Amino acid sequence: MKFEKDLLGIKNLDADQIHYILKKAEGMKKIIFSDCKKATNLAGKSVMTLFYENSTRTRTSFELAAKYLGAIASNMAVSSSSVKKGETLIDTTRTINVMGTDCFVIRHENAGAPHLVAQNVDATVINAGDGMNEHPTQALLDFFTMYEKMGTVEGKKVAIIGDIYHSRVARSDTYGLLKLGAEVVMAGPRTLLPSDLESLGVKMYTDVDKAIKDADVVMPLRLQLERQKNCFFPSGYEYSKYFGVNEERMKLAKEGAIIMHPGPVNRGLELQSALYAPDKSAIDEQVTNGVAVRMAVLDTFVNRG
Ligand code: CP
Repeated sequence: MKFEKDLLGIKNLDADQIHYILKKAEGMKKIIFSDCKKATNLAGKSVMTLFYENSTRTRTSFELAAKYLGAIASNMAVSSSSVKKGETLIDTTRTINVMGTDCFVIRHENAGAPHLVAQNVDATVINAGDGMNEHPTQALLDFFTMYEKMGTVEGKKVAIIGDIYHSRVARSDTYGLLKLGAEVVMAGPRTLLPSDLESLGVKMYTDVDKAIKDADVVMPLRLQLERQKNCFFPSGYEYSKYFGVNEERMKLAKEGAIIMHPGPVNRGLELQSALYAPDKSAIDEQVTNGVAVRMAVLDTFVNRG
């Protein structure tokens, strides 16, 4: 299977490439739970994580994924780097590139930042989230979790709820789910529903109950308060009442429907706190699968060809 140098978005992958990565992740997951978490796929390769925005899951799982595959994994701490002296993104990554880096994993608050880096370094660039644009590895781990729990995503109804406007996860999930044959519906306050996804065939509702009705997967999204400069809804109380996913609302979904959330969770706001439990939602499984999928992504892109 042929892949480009970089993984910049789900937009750039076709269904066969997505399936290839997910299949490879199945094997990688076995390594995570083995006694010897040390494969040699990336032995001798150097992977640098570079996060201009905060992260727990993505950064840590990329670091573990690289280490489980035998790579030399390093993290550049942006807050104590020469970025604070004004060094540009291109100069920073050029500098690290000539240290012998084979792969950059980059998160940045500006959409398109990983794309800019990819044009200026010969190392592979993996987008770990760029502004409100894409978060491709989150989408891949979401697909992996859906396949694991349902066998297929084709014909399944996925309801994405809440702060869609600011969500790079919603965009990457939508691009991929439509390629994989799923139905995607969204619901949230009108102020947090973007128009760009509607044109792809996504149904938008302001009534959450309509979106959740008969859904196979219900995915509330984190309210990204750090990106909200304007007042998008009256209060947290009203938000949770009208748009929060809770046990009562889940009765509208298909029997056995899965609750997923990319994390971190605002407990009691977009998701009833009791539903953030291993027997109620797939959130912990998503986190585990994130390591497996990132191992598969690193192996696929760094060892391409
Ligand atoms: N889902 C996600 O990207 O989580 P982190 O911000 O913790 O990496």
